[in-house]
Amino acid sequence: MAIDTCIFDAYGTLFDVSAAARHAADDTPALTDIWATLAADWRDKQLQYTWLRAVSGDHCDFWQVTGDGLDWAMEKAGLSDAALRDRLMNLYWELAAYPEVPDMLGALKDAGRATGILSNGTPEMLQAATASAGIGRLLDHVLSVESVGIFKPSPKVYDMVGRAFGCEAGDVLFVSSNGWDAAAAQAYGFRTVWVNRAGLPMDRLPGRPDHVLDDLEGLPALVASL
Ligand code: LAC
Repeated sequence: MAIDTCIFDAYGTLFDVSAAARHAADDTPALTDIWATLAADWRDKQLQYTWLRAVSGDHCDFWQVTGDGLDWAMEKAGLSDAALRDRLMNLYWELAAYPEVPDMLGALKDAGRATGILSNGTPEMLQAATASAGIGRLLDHVLSVESVGIFKPSPKVYDMVGRAFGCEAGDVLFVSSNGWDAAAAQAYGFRTVWVNRAGLPMDRLPGRPDHVLDDLEGLPALVASL
């Protein structure tokens, strides 16, 4: 059956989560050699904290875990600099989208598809990032887990799509660069694309993504073929 609705993870999928540290490194000598490690540690800890808080039932919002992850990563790197922390958090607030994202979303809209974001991010973070990337008008709904008070991969999060779009899970194509998110969404009942930009092995989890792409450029053609 044709796909009506394309739903995107935000961080790492539409928005480049390493862009904040990479950009700050342009004029911060302390980051020149370590920005990539800092960005990876920051992301790893941010995600670990979402999973641990979901399991323990101790929810806080994604801005908090983003700051907590950065604090851990900066301490590991031996960086103690409040101004640098503020700068990195401000850059994260308006993260750059991957270059192919605006044209890809425009092509899906031109083909009559409904589009949306389903993200751990807070409504305010997602508003700021979509506005700075200039993609807000290309999205029908921007859905934040704050509506259900638990992070992915809780099924309560994936349930939000059917409520917002009035569609069946099998009519949704869910697109994520996070292998665990694509796996969970496939197990939930969505059709799924894993955007494997880094060429990583597939996660050993119950769900397996239906499709794998290197980036988002080929997504409109894939959707048209389904
Ligand atoms: C999100 C995280 C998982 O946007 O990247 O939901």
